[in-house]
Amino acid sequence: MSGFQAAIFDLDGVLVDSAKAHFVAWRRLADELGIVFTEHDNEALKGLDRITSLRTILALGGRTVADDEMAKLAARKNGYYLDMIRQMSPADQLPGADALVRSARASHLKCAVASASRNAPLLLERSGLAPLIDFVADPGAIARGKPAPDIFLACSAALGVDPVACLAFEDASAGIEAIVAAGMFAVGIGDPEILKGARITFPATSAVDLAALLQA
Ligand code: G6P
Ligand code: MG
Repeated sequence: MSGFQAAIFDLDGVLVDSAKAHFVAWRRLADELGIVFTEHDNEALKGLDRITSLRTILALGGRTVADDEMAKLAARKNGYYLDMIRQMSPADQLPGADALVRSARASHLKCAVASASRNAPLLLERSGLAPLIDFVADPGAIARGKPAPDIFLACSAALGVDPVACLAFEDASAGIEAIVAAGMFAVGIGDPEILKGARITFPATSAVDLAALLQA
């Protein structure tokens, strides 16, 4: 039997198919600002909070703006994003997401979500996953975002589980860095070339072999 007692999941790109909506919303804003923003540029934004993402996009265009303008631009992007995700339903779960969380619970793991997104509670409700999750971290209450370990440590503390007994799942490079810094077992979802610090990487959520991980 493994010593794992908890599973901590990133949301966008791990449980819910919302990473594309973030990209489309950021690209719309970037277009309006006359900044070229590609899918490749977007890869580095995954897992970063809203304001840090905006700052990165402005830097791509060699732009800086005053704080109140930053807040307005971030709100505009969030409006575009919300227009897309308000339509969400359980059909927008990533394939295998519900099964993965259910099998974690069946294996007596407590389950938490560590997402930089302030929209995480809405996404969990719309996708139907909320009843399966014991704790959702509030990124607004956490000083340092990913790649700092804070949001993962907030989850393990809330669940009352030692970080070394946590399996954590991420699709973003900044998230894997955060998990490793938290001293947890990092499971990458995506390309192992991008998720270099992960202990193991699966190409998609549906490919995760939880039983094998629990025997590790
Ligand atoms: C996640 C996504 C990022 C997104 C961030 C903030 O980490 O991977 O792409 O920018 O959350 O999301 P929010 O919904 O608060 O703007
Ligand atoms: Mg993600």
